[in-house]
Amino acid sequence: MTWGRMPSCAPVANRRWPGESGTRPKLATCATMLFSLASAFGQQSSLAPGGTHASQIKSLGVFFFWLLGIIFLIVIAIAVASIFQRGQSTQDEAAQRRLKTAIAGASVLTILILFGLVVVSVGVGKEISAPGGRGNELVVEVTGNQWWWFVRYLNDDPTRIVVTANELHIPVGRPVLIRGLSNDVIHSFWVPGLQGKRDLIPSRVTTQWIETNEPGRYRGQCAEFCGLQHAHMALWTVAEPESQFQQWIGTQLRPGAAPSDDLQQRGQEVFLSHACVLCHSIQGTTANGQVGPDLTHFGSRLSIAAGTLPNNKGNLAGWIADPQNIKPGTRMATVPLDPTDMQPLL
Ligand code: CUA
Repeated sequence: MTWGRMPSCAPVANRRWPGESGTRPKLATCATMLFSLASAFGQQSSLAPGGTHASQIKSLGVFFFWLLGIIFLIVIAIAVASIFQRGQSTQDEAAQRRLKTAIAGASVLTILILFGLVVVSVGVGKEISAPGGRGNELVVEVTGNQWWWFVRYLNDDPTRIVVTANELHIPVGRPVLIRGLSNDVIHSFWVPGLQGKRDLIPSRVTTQWIETNEPGRYRGQCAEFCGLQHAHMALWTVAEPESQFQQWIGTQLRPGAAPSDDLQQRGQEVFLSHACVLCHSIQGTTANGQVGPDLTHFGSRLSIAAGTLPNNKGNLAGWIADPQNIKPGTRMATVPLDPTDMQPLL
């Protein structure tokens, strides 16, 4: 099971991600999900690192696991052995001396091991937070909102600034500086396959470097409880070769495609004449709302409502018709629509 293709335990909408096959989740699957918690495998996993920083974090974790696991087994073995040796006299002087030496030795060894772990841990911490810029870095601003991610690709040329939401595209082999902000409460930006966590704090800028040499999709998740829909605050990171990334940037820079037939024309009219425009922008139209995600190239995105649902027409219809059913507490308004207007809008 991969977290990215996470089956749902809730009987709402179609939560199957593109490319996912197989049956609907059974009770056992849901139980496994509970046990795997932050997910140990798949597209959202610090044990399946794609990024250079995440690899270092994984190595540290594996080192801790084996070292402490072996120590645990030794301690248990000694405890069990001492049970079998119960009753043997420790009163004679030689036995007393041996016991004291063993206790002193174990104490010194414990201090040395703990000190060693601190040194290794601080070393890795320093390495993964060191500036990764080599003059070719990409700077992306990620702003946490209840409960979605605003993403802005900074550029010295204001006409080349790209704005998107709930999805991050990065080129492989190039360092990316994430400038983290928050519009409301504290969130935490965490793409386990690429890096550790970094809090997004109101009126502060926090930074994090990510870099990967492996193209692919990495699922990220808000890692700081930020309200009712904290769990539905996910973000896809798509790592792709430089040429593909530049192509994506080029597409994002263009205004939304103009309607090409009557149905699409009607859809645009529906969008522009309803409350949608109070919150959302679509470049190339008069929609200029700044409260919710920019919807200019929404069709190209992988998910709806910050990773809550795979992006397809059926899910989108459910989301627009009754957002509170899919994401209770969301700021997305339920806009009353004439039933005949839904299809053109989709
Ligand atoms: Cu944002 Cu939890």
